[in-house]
Amino acid sequence: MCGIVAYLGEKKAYPIIIEGLKRLEYRGYDSAGIALLNGKMQVLKKKGKVSELENHASEQLENYDYSMGIGHTRWATHGVPNDVNAHPHTSNDGNISIIHNGIIENYDSIKKALIEKGHVFHSDTDTEVLAHLIGEIQKTEKLPLEEVVRLALKKCVGAYAIVVMDQNDPGKLVGAKFSSPLVLGIGDDEFFLASDASPIIKYTNKVIYLNDGEIVTIKRGKGYCIKNLSNETQNPKVSELDLKLEEIEKGGYDHFMLKEIFQQPTTVATSMKGRINSKEGWAILGGMKPNIARIAKSDRIILTACGTSWHSAMIGEYLLEDLARIPTEVEYASEFRYRNPIIKENDFIVALSQSGETADTLAAIKMAKAKGAYLYGIVNAVGSSIARETDSGSYIHAGPEIGVASTKAFTGQSTILALMALYLGHHKGLIEETYFRKLLAELESVPSKITKILAKDDHIKYIAGEIKNASNALYLGRGYNFPVALEGALKLKEISYIHAEGYPAAEMKHGPIALIDMYMPVIVLATNKSAYEKIVSNIQEVKARKGIVIAIVTEGDEIIKEIADFIIEIPEIEEPLTPLLSVIPMQLLAYHIAVMRGCHIDQPRNLAKSVTVE
Ligand code: F6R
Repeated sequence: MCGIVAYLGEKKAYPIIIEGLKRLEYRGYDSAGIALLNGKMQVLKKKGKVSELENHASEQLENYDYSMGIGHTRWATHGVPNDVNAHPHTSNDGNISIIHNGIIENYDSIKKALIEKGHVFHSDTDTEVLAHLIGEIQKTEKLPLEEVVRLALKKCVGAYAIVVMDQNDPGKLVGAKFSSPLVLGIGDDEFFLASDASPIIKYTNKVIYLNDGEIVTIKRGKGYCIKNLSNETQNPKVSELDLKLEEIEKGGYDHFMLKEIFQQPTTVATSMKGRINSKEGWAILGGMKPNIARIAKSDRIILTACGTSWHSAMIGEYLLEDLARIPTEVEYASEFRYRNPIIKENDFIVALSQSGETADTLAAIKMAKAKGAYLYGIVNAVGSSIARETDSGSYIHAGPEIGVASTKAFTGQSTILALMALYLGHHKGLIEETYFRKLLAELESVPSKITKILAKDDHIKYIAGEIKNASNALYLGRGYNFPVALEGALKLKEISYIHAEGYPAAEMKHGPIALIDMYMPVIVLATNKSAYEKIVSNIQEVKARKGIVIAIVTEGDEIIKEIADFIIEIPEIEEPLTPLLSVIPMQLLAYHIAVMRGCHIDQPRNLAKSVTVE
């Protein structure tokens, strides 16, 4: 999704903004632009990568002597990706420039009214309409920029994070947020506004996460002031970032995705830190502890999320019903929010999100909150909107995930869900003590077992080479491995653009079996102890139709080895914890296939890291 970087200070703004935009590239975008102000405003925009904007700037920029400016990476919503639709957009008189993340839903009616007043629009965007609206109000009301912005936003319906700059009011930036993230960075005599902390961390670790409906005004030499849409001054909390620059750099890996796959022994261990002790026999989540009695008595748990987070939610459903015996439902946030669901006071609602900013998940929990539900967040991005909107929660502490394809967030979320199920099941006295301690010890062993799987990277790369030219792929799994099959298929399609589908293995004969021929790779997750014979039969069914079987098996499996074309062995583990291991070969397989096909690994086409629009 769109990325925002703005700077006001004593340094040269251009390199700071360009570097910041590069740090936000991971969010996904298709064009970039910048507006710089030093007496006169210069606006430059280019379809394509930030590097293309840099090339354009090297020809067009009159000088580099600007100490304030705004920059943007655009992920197209209204209008195709091109130079004209790229941000910043300017007001009718060209004095005001604006960058925007989000969607102004009522832009069409505002645009019509402005056209009647003589405004001429150049782009197809909703953002240009907002720029003109701000300009029009300024022309008629003659108020300070921040006041004009406030009045304009009161007329808008939708989502926004914006930064506005006026060449007639130099030394001032105005930012505002509603449903899209915006962070203020506070340095020494310098200020930053950005979509997340990654463009800021190099300069300061003091930030304020703006709340919905807040407007920040930064004035050179005078500091900042935050008000709400009713013009009341706010008392914001200044947070200290717990983020290091190395965490947002590739650290010697070819891609962020590979770095993040290989980080998983550490990130899974960090997710568990202080939350489990197999020797003493406990698992705990601090966010649940004060309300554990109430949560344990829940009539129902509803897990809501999108994409990969939805797949880990499915693992949560299996775990929570298996170990804590609480009826659990998994909801796509985008469906849940619009289908008038039944939510009862005694329901426990859990939102899962890496970014903590996914628009549908955020809207789903706001809807559930309005119906009186108790909300819990399993989130990676610290200080994000979902983390703040939920009543309590558990951070997964996986560190910044920059590759668009989610990997370490999935294992982090699944780890927290395993802890949640163990904590609840044990609290309810449902798990026999020896088995409970066994599961705790097994969970603690996951990081070292992941390390063992990562050591098979060359073998997985070899298999990737054998199937890289496929046009389709089928992923099959049973029980705990079914959500992993879905996740494996999603990983492959999003980064390699190979069409892939995940299915419960037994469902294959109800339709997808028609697709199997000698060109179809079928990735079978076959580590289950329960229903082992059944999954062997499924593999036989694929082989009988000449499909290419890549089986993920438990170390020492001699039966499937004889039938499958390729096997990838993973260490033995208690079945409820299998997904934490079986997903690793899925991630590596997708990664290597995509590299071999020459795809953009960290920024696959059309995708955004943080989906902040519906
Ligand atoms: C897939 C992927 C997406 C996200 C989805 C939800 O690799 O990254 O499917 O999982 O957009 O994002 P979060 O978890 O940030 O809410």
